Parts: sequence; C-alpha cells; structure tokens
Amino acid sequence: MSVELRYRPRRLRDNETLRSMTLETSLSIKDLVLPIFISDEISSPKEIESMPGVFCWPVSQIVDQVEKWIISGIRAFAVFPKIDPAKKTETGDECLNPNSVVYEVARSIKSNFSQISLIGDLALDPYTSHGHDGVLDKDGRVDNDRTVEILAKASVLAADAGYDVLAPSDMMDGRVGVIRSHLEKNGHIKTCIMSYAAKFCSSYYGPFRDAIGASNNMPIDKSGYQLSPNNFREATRELELDFEEGADILMIKPAEPFLDVIHYARNHFTIPIAAYQVSGEYSRITAAGLNGWLDAEKCAIESLTSIKRAGADLILTYFADKVASSI
Ligand code: PBG
Repeated sequence: MSVELRYRPRRLRDNETLRSMTLETSLSIKDLVLPIFISDEISSPKEIESMPGVFCWPVSQIVDQVEKWIISGIRAFAVFPKIDPAKKTETGDECLNPNSVVYEVARSIKSNFSQISLIGDLALDPYTSHGHDGVLDKDGRVDNDRTVEILAKASVLAADAGYDVLAPSDMMDGRVGVIRSHLEKNGHIKTCIMSYAAKFCSSYYGPFRDAIGASNNMPIDKSGYQLSPNNFREATRELELDFEEGADILMIKPAEPFLDVIHYARNHFTIPIAAYQVSGEYSRITAAGLNGWLDAEKCAIESLTSIKRAGADLILTYFADKVASSI
C-alpha cells in the first residue's frame, strides 16, 4: 500500500546522477595543503612511528618527492623541520640561522617549482631544548614579547628564503601585527600571513611532537598560551584580534573537534578560513584502519568533507597525498 506524500526527500536520492547533482559540498585536492617533515640528519625517508604512512624526508630527496606530489595534484605544502638536538638551545637561536634546514629547503623547492605555495611555520618549538613555542622567563613561563621579537626576525628570513605564506603557530599575543609590519618594512609586501588564530591546547598534537622530536618527546603543557578546548568565546576573540592585526587567512586547529569554531569563523569574517586536521586526527583514523576496524580512506574523506562543510576554505592534512586520486 502506498500513502500519498507531498514531501519525499528520498526522491532526490533515488539514483547516482540525482545524488551527485544535488551534492552540497565536494572536496577537491585544490582545497588541501600537505604538511611535510624535513631533516638534514637523515639520508633516506624515515617513517614516523606514531603516524604510519607519514615520513620525515632528507633534504637531499625533498625536491624529487615534491615533484611526485605536484604530479598527484597537490599545490601547497607546509614545511616542518626536525632539528638536530645538538642545535637546540633555551632560546631557539637556530631559527635565526639563515642556513638552517627550513630556509635551505625553501630555496631548493622554490627554485625548482615556483608555482606552488610554500607555507613556513613560525614558532620556536622545533628549535628550543625545552620544546616550548617561545623563550622562557625566569619563572619558566613563555615570555610573550621576547618571543614575538624573535618570530618577527625569523619571518623576514623565511620570506627571504622563498616562503609565500607564513604561519605563526605559537599563540603569542600581538605577533601577527608585529610580523606584518616587519615584512612590510623589509619589502615583503606580497608574503601572506596565515595565522593559527584559534589554536587549542589539544591532546591531538602528540604524534607531531614525536615527528619533530620536540622536548625530547617528554609531555609538555602549553596551556599558558594555547586556548582551552572548553572556550568558544575566547576563540572568537583570538580570531578577531588576528583579523584586526592583518592576518590574510585565519586558521583553526585542530579541525574536526572544533567544527563549531570553523563554522563561526566562516560566518563572521570575509577572509579565507583554514583548518588544520592535526597529527592525532590522522593517527586515530589510520590506526583504526590498520586494525581493520574502519575504512581509513573513506573516514579520512568523510572527516575532510565535514571540515569543509563546516566552512573551511582550505585544510592542512596529512591525508592530502593519500586521498589525492580519490577526490
Ligand atoms: C607548534 C606546532 C604544533 C603543530 C603545528 N605547529 C604542535 C604544538 O603546538 O605543540 C601541531 C600539528 C599536528 O599535530 O599535526 N608550533
């Protein structure tokens, strides 16, 4: 027996053509940025234990590898260095060495592939012996203004080396404005700032800290500068401040646990919104996939689509190369 129904939402789901014609959100490789780990201490790629399928690349092989990724459709890369522990200091001085690996790699990638977007992370944690994102004061707290001064100097070195976009990931107050003015004064008027505006003090960063060897892999508490995951209003204030200070792109991080913040940002700002699907988001899906509990690729695409649906224009994700041929 059939009832007479005016509305049958299933009509639009009857066949694949109708379903694809009525798709509201679709993911494209153009939306994705691949974070890459590099090191000058290794001579062959080294898999990161807590991120199966993600490697740390020797500088000597990175240009060939980037070429392969470009062929797969990836157009933007965010570079993270793993620094030799012997070069780490309390104040992270290695980040002001113009010949440090992060600058060297930008020069070689950009001289081969000028068309791609290269994103340089600005933060001291790869360079400090204690693993914090800044220099410490006498009480062991991260000193905001001294840290901002170093980041501003590093921003000019990064732009000189060829980074197109600089991404301060440290959560110091006022750094976007100071970096913007340093870049302008030094002639880097085209260098964009993608600020990690609402960066939460998340437990999902663990595998990344293993990857860069931060704080010798000891647990570290960054709640003195990163946002509490409990605080939505405070996150909106951080977004507002970075927008006012001149950020070109606002980022929210992690991504899937903070879809509400992404959605808010999309609706309140006219500039592009980025989201970072972080290492722990990658590892949880990948681990379940390796156990045969989930279809990792499908879950990755579902997660990325949710992040886009919430309002992200671009997404940093370790899955970029893995899903490139399926989206
Ligand atoms: C630190 C930084 C972190 C990430 C990017 N930049 C970790 C942290 O704040 O400790 C995390 C990325 C990830 O987990 O994938 N400057």
